[in-house]
Amino acid sequence: MDELVVPRRGFKLLSGGANRLLAEEIARSLGVELCKVTISRFADGEIFVRIDENVRGHDVFIVQPTNPPADNIVELLLLIDAARRASAARITCVMPYYGYSRQDRKDQPRVAIGAKLLANLITTAGADRVLGLDFHQHQLQGFFDIPVDHLYAAPVFVSHYRKKHLKDVVVVAPDVGSAKMARGFAKRLNGTFAIIDKRRPASNVSEVLNVVGEVDGRDCLIPDDMIDTAGTVTAAARALKDLGAHDIYVCATHPLLSGPAAERLSSAPIAEVTVTDTVAIANEHRFPKLVVLSVGDLLAKAVRNTHDDQSVSSLFELS
Ligand code: R5P
Repeated sequence: MDELVVPRRGFKLLSGGANRLLAEEIARSLGVELCKVTISRFADGEIFVRIDENVRGHDVFIVQPTNPPADNIVELLLLIDAARRASAARITCVMPYYGYSRQDRKDQPRVAIGAKLLANLITTAGADRVLGLDFHQHQLQGFFDIPVDHLYAAPVFVSHYRKKHLKDVVVVAPDVGSAKMARGFAKRLNGTFAIIDKRRPASNVSEVLNVVGEVDGRDCLIPDDMIDTAGTVTAAARALKDLGAHDIYVCATHPLLSGPAAERLSSAPIAEVTVTDTVAIANEHRFPKLVVLSVGDLLAKAVRNTHDDQSVSSLFELS
């Protein structure tokens, strides 16, 4: 007997509590309202979620970065589960920031691989697809056994820096892991490339050993996937300044900005720090030279194309 094919109805965009402003930005770009959801707590702190609209047969997109607190992850899993049990036709986890992605290998005895565990949890909860942005390593896509569309924030940054008409710009990779990203920026900004030989004597401690490349008298751009404590980019900026760099710019997709980050970035020899809104930034972590660009439009296009079964590969291009 032929299988009964149930047509997918419209799409619904849901948001967890981790970054509602970004979800609203995506909704605005798509010209839709966010689907009504109740997220509340039991007296002991346990999370309760309920989707307050019918999603049966719908293409459901759930926006939630998985940065700390871990409640963000629990909310995401509960929302996926609720959508699945409400008979959504397809569930896409829109994960602007993949928290726990740095724990991607067993590089010491008896450690967890948090990135893989989170991928398993999202899949087991019932997600059919993942839409992500600037994973810490691109190959993390392979941690999911469901389709992953992996976007880059680079086009958003590149158009910002093109307007600045930087002179003789050198794009400086703050470590080996960022080299590919930095080369991409250098190509698109008609700049040259340099790289920093970084050492981490301890977790969250960054030490510059050497700068490979010419920076004297030139504007420098340091791109990274994330700024956590800002140890990496501020140590890099100081090393570049010592070598005679002119203006130094820093950009990073994910503004975790924990602990001393705001104070370090404010006092470092950096002209401007540009980040995106993948992670909500608390007011106390903002500082005057911080510029926040939105990836809402980019994610909205990806949601639209996914729903329409159109290619999203044009959005991966860094033209
Ligand atoms: C390192 O591999 C990452 O790309 C970032 O450079 C790093 O996680 C940033 O951490 P922090 O801001 O604490 O130096």
